[in-house]
Amino acid sequence: MPGRDPRARLNIVVGVAGGIAAYKACHLVRFLTERGHRVRVAPTPAALNFVGAATFEALSGNPVSSGVFEAVDEVRHVRIGQEADLVVVAPATADLLARAAAGRADDLLTATLLTATCPVVLAPAMHAEMWAHPATRDNVATLRRRGTIVLEPAVGRLTGADSGPGRLPEPAQIGAMALLAAERPGALARDLAGTRVLVSAGGTREALDPVRFLGNHSSGRQGFAIAEVAAHRGAEVTLVAGAVDALPDPPGVRRVDVVSAAELRAEMTSRAPAADIVVMAAAVADYRPARAAEAKLKKAAGAGEGPTTLELVENPDILAELVRTRGAAGPVIVGFAAETGDAEAGPLAHARAKLARKGCDLLMCNDVSGGATFGAEDNAGWLLAPAAGEAGAEVTEVPRGSKHAVAAAILDRAAAAAAAR
Ligand code: C5P
Repeated sequence: MPGRDPRARLNIVVGVAGGIAAYKACHLVRFLTERGHRVRVAPTPAALNFVGAATFEALSGNPVSSGVFEAVDEVRHVRIGQEADLVVVAPATADLLARAAAGRADDLLTATLLTATCPVVLAPAMHAEMWAHPATRDNVATLRRRGTIVLEPAVGRLTGADSGPGRLPEPAQIGAMALLAAERPGALARDLAGTRVLVSAGGTREALDPVRFLGNHSSGRQGFAIAEVAAHRGAEVTLVAGAVDALPDPPGVRRVDVVSAAELRAEMTSRAPAADIVVMAAAVADYRPARAAEAKLKKAAGAGEGPTTLELVENPDILAELVRTRGAAGPVIVGFAAETGDAEAGPLAHARAKLARKGCDLLMCNDVSGGATFGAEDNAGWLLAPAAGEAGAEVTEVPRGSKHAVAAAILDRAAAAAAAR
């Protein structure tokens, strides 16, 4: 899928509708301007009851208006949409969705939605009853049929004491999805409806004693991005998460938290048979301490007298096990390989050998020399698939892009392999 240069400076319209989550739009504007994009905020008149125009003007560095009768000489209600590379509306209230679905143009934001030919991303936020109402369901279906990207709302605390689906996702989640829509048009098509996707992410922690563990630098970001993109594409997604940076739950995803490789293995092996696609993005510890002490290990009294050797035992290779135990109708299985080159071979040669060893259908190889990738927002590498012949693998380059763009590339290939099974 050809896309736009991820480093391009975009003209972005941030629309804000009149809901309490309007305050989160301030953080979204910041997220986008910090990444070098030009932002113009188009609040509805109702949104200005929650956040003043001055706040949006200061954050975006651009004038703010909400009606169609301001700056009429500039024909602003037409120009803003025409000039945009991306329109993202957060929050999109039930009323905004209804007006957009009906093609109304009674304020600057809805007029902009009618004139924009670029990707349009709506991030709904409303009470759970409003989100579930048949009128809203119909409006969402209409908008999606027309190619508008309507993101899944998060589940959680709403305005009052109630909670449920209808919460606005975190600004960074909306920003990442919106930039993905601009970077790879079509990356958020609803093509995974009916597909069950199981993803593991993050590192495992292998206990030494009640307070210490052996762990690794995995941030969990790539696995979370895969789960998030799959859910927005309509898949039914379960995310088995080990130790991760403080990452918010991806909207529309069932999240199961685990700590050790043994717990991760139990969740993955019991859930994999019901999945169409399994992605093992977790950084599973290859070894664990032979014994986890029940009480905290004490430092020896005299210098140089402490224990200096840890006895380790090997953890099972979950990925290889999932491949070995799946039936003929089993899922497409995607593995990850974080490689560095060494004196014997480059990262890609190591990845080819790993693909053969693990037996998975796709292997995403990242070159992590020099600590690149861990915790970063972007990623790059190669996707390897088994192929006949001497090389043993067909290699596709995945160009540098956001972890969400890399997630979309992996899901494209995995979905094609699942459809061909
Ligand atoms: O062998 P290596 O750890 O580099 O392989 C990485 C791939 O194997 C990843 O997909 C990881 O999730 C998986 N893995 C596993 N069980 C292990 C070690 C790695 O499933 N014990």
